[in-house]
Amino acid sequence: MDEQVRVAVIPGDGIGTEVMEPTLGILEAVGRRHGIDFAWQHHDWSCEHYTRTGRMMPEDGLEQLAEADQILLGAVGYPGVPDHVSLWGLLIPIRRAFKQYINLRPVRLLPGIECPLRLKEGTEIDFLVVRENNEGEYSEVGGRMYRGTPDEFAVQESVFTRRGVERAARYALDLAASRRGSLASATKSNGIIHTMPFWDEVVHETAKDYPGVEVRDYHIDALSAQFVLDPGRFDVVVASNLFGDILTDLGAAIIGSIGIAPSGNLNPEGEHPSMFEPVHGSAPDIAGQGIANPLGQIWAASMMLDHMGHPQAAAELVSAMEATLTGGVRTPDLGGTASTTEVAEAVLQQVGSDD
Ligand code: NAI
Ligand code: MG
Repeated sequence: MDEQVRVAVIPGDGIGTEVMEPTLGILEAVGRRHGIDFAWQHHDWSCEHYTRTGRMMPEDGLEQLAEADQILLGAVGYPGVPDHVSLWGLLIPIRRAFKQYINLRPVRLLPGIECPLRLKEGTEIDFLVVRENNEGEYSEVGGRMYRGTPDEFAVQESVFTRRGVERAARYALDLAASRRGSLASATKSNGIIHTMPFWDEVVHETAKDYPGVEVRDYHIDALSAQFVLDPGRFDVVVASNLFGDILTDLGAAIIGSIGIAPSGNLNPEGEHPSMFEPVHGSAPDIAGQGIANPLGQIWAASMMLDHMGHPQAAAELVSAMEATLTGGVRTPDLGGTASTTEVAEAVLQQVGSDD
């Protein structure tokens, strides 16, 4: 009998809705080949929902999501609703309630895509960024005082816990051990003198359990430069919430377009649903034109298959994306002329074309 998987689907705003719809059809096709039967649980939670109800999601939204096995998200955010409302009203509560403490973002230059960098001969871009996803710089600790006066000030505290840093480091070290045995740790312990030396210490203590992995610390500024100058040197990169956020937009840029880059918000123990989404946002500048690149969402769906324990299905989906790209079917962000639907159709055709 087919495996039943309940997936909560939150298309969100703007191009989020445009890239989600075809992705579900593609997942259904992959699922049919691998004995997976998807039951979609659709949620219209979005900035539009906020404008109507004053909330990004209903009060019992998290309880509804808890019944799902996995969550697929498009993107949220729209002009008129402040970005901190869309982020703190939906994304961040989901990441925290479900202990999705790892944000995994592959940075891989797919065949058929021209790299915007002038790479040294023989360079391959293929690495993983592990972003700590539950604490760090994105904290609610702090406040503002003396509003509107010349004495006004704002304080925001970063929160780094031993448990939080260690589990992110361990996840990254495990990955590195299973790949090329190299871990780059993003730090800034020269300027940020409490939290970042602590980060370094915990990463290196954890690494003692992994004699086969070479760990190198990079200050975040120098690391950003190396992403551009020598991206081929990286295998796995581990970073705090903010550093990882910034690095992965840069990572998405060097693989050709932010429209391709995927991410998984993982609860590695599988005690709670994990959430898969493209790195990009709702792109109000191109929303409604039918030209959004669906590959970021489709690649995120492949990460979901992998997390569900279907690596073969996941790999097939990535191969279908690669074949689509090398076949020249591309959206305008990659220099092509294809629409969202045409790219998605091409991927759908490729799924299963090997038999
Ligand atoms: P964005 O990622 O939406 O757009 C940045 C640029 O990349 C735009 O020029 C856009 O047209 C282009 N782009 C993005 N995705 C694309 C795709 N699939 N195909 C082709 N081109 C694509 O980032 P921006 O403009 O900073 O944010 C827009 C809204 O999205 C904001 O409200 C922001 O808060 C929200 N956002 C939401 C995220 C999420 O839901 N996880 C993540 C990032 C931003
Ligand atoms: Mg970001």
